Amino acid sequence: MNKTIAVLPGDGIGPEVIAQSLKVLKVIENKFQHRFECTEAPIGAAAMAQGLEPLPPATLELCQKADAVLFGAIGDPRYDKDPGTVFKPEQGLLDLRKSMGFFANIRPIKSYRKLAALSPLKEEQVHSINLILFRELTAGLYFGKKQKDEEGRWAIDECYYHQEEIERISHLAFRQARLRKKKLTLVDKANVLETGKLWRSTVQNLHKSDYPDVELELMLIDHAAMQLVLNPRQFDVILTENMFGDILSDEASVVVGTIGLLPSASLNENQGLFEPIHGSYPQAAGRNLANPIASILSVAMMLDFFDLTAEAGLIREAVDFLINEGLGTMDMAPRTIITCSAMGEFVSGLVASDKSSWPSMRKSLDKTV
Ligand code: IPM
Ligand code: MG
Repeated sequence: MNKTIAVLPGDGIGPEVIAQSLKVLKVIENKFQHRFECTEAPIGAAAMAQGLEPLPPATLELCQKADAVLFGAIGDPRYDKDPGTVFKPEQGLLDLRKSMGFFANIRPIKSYRKLAALSPLKEEQVHSINLILFRELTAGLYFGKKQKDEEGRWAIDECYYHQEEIERISHLAFRQARLRKKKLTLVDKANVLETGKLWRSTVQNLHKSDYPDVELELMLIDHAAMQLVLNPRQFDVILTENMFGDILSDEASVVVGTIGLLPSASLNENQGLFEPIHGSYPQAAGRNLANPIASILSVAMMLDFFDLTAEAGLIREAVDFLINEGLGTMDMAPRTIITCSAMGEFVSGLVASDKSSWPSMRKSLDKTV
C-alpha cells in the first residue's frame, strides 16, 4: 500500500515522541512491504520560532494533499503568560482542524491491569475500562463568533451548532456502538442550553430512524463528569460536543492512570489526523524521558484507518507486552524505567521480530538498562 503522510512534530516533547513512532512506522513499512511517504512540516511554536504563523500555509497545503497527518504536540508556556498575545501556538492546531474539516475526534480510553495503581481511583474501579469518546471538533464554543470589549471588561464566545454538524459525528458514534456493546451515551446540557436541546433532539431522531438496535442513554455533562470517576466501566461509547469532550477526555485519561498512553484520531470524510491526547509537556522536552506510547498507538490508529488492521494489531500487542513485562517510561512507574528513545527502539524491535523471540528480547533489555 502507498500512502502519503504529513508529519507535524510541533512543540515540546512532540518531536521526541514522533521520532519514536516514525521508527515503528518504518519497521511496519519494511515488514509488510508498504510505502509511507512521510514529509515533515512546522506548526505551533516551532513554526513561530521560524517567523511563521502557527499554521503556515505550506504546512496546511502539505496536509491537504496527504492521506493522513501524524501530529506530535502543540503549546509553549512562553506564550501563555500574556493573555493578550495575538497568536498562540495552539491556534495552529485549531486552524488545522477547521481548515481540514476534521469534525470527529475519536479518543479510545483503556485501562491496563498492570498500571491500575497509577489511577487516583481505587483499583477495583479501574480494571477493564474500555471506552471511546466521540468529540465534535470543528464547531461549538471553540469556533463560534468571538467578541470582546476594547477596554477588556467583557468577552463573548458564541456556541453555535447546526443539526448537520451534530448528525455527521453521531453517525460515526452510532456505527461504532453497533460494533461494540450497542450502547451510546450522549452527554449534553439539555436542561439549560439551546445547543444542548438541539444535540438531544437531533441524536434522538437519528436513533429512532437509523439505529433503533443501539441503546441510547442521555446524560447531563455535570452528572457524566461525576459518573466517570464513580463508575467509569459503565461507559462504552460517549458522544459529546467540542468543549465537553475536551474536558471529559482529560478526566477520562487520569482515571486510567497516565495520559501518556492515549492516542486519538480526528477525521474528515476521507483523511485523518492522528495525535496523542497529551500536550507538549515542556518541562520534559529534550530530556528523553517522555512517554512515546500515545504517539506509537496513534500510528496504530492511523494504520487501522488505512485498513491495515493486522499491522495496527501487532503494534498494540507489542505495547501490551512491554507494559505487562513491567517496562515503561517514568510516568508509568514501571519495574524497569527506560527512556523515550529506548522505548521507540524496543517497540520497533518487537514489531520487527517474530513473537516467539519477544521474551528473550525482554531479558536482554534488562541486561542493558
Ligand atoms: C485537545 C487540546 C486542544 C483542545 C488544545 C491544545 C487547543 O486540549 O486536543 O484536547 O482544546 O482541543
Ligand atoms: Mg484537551
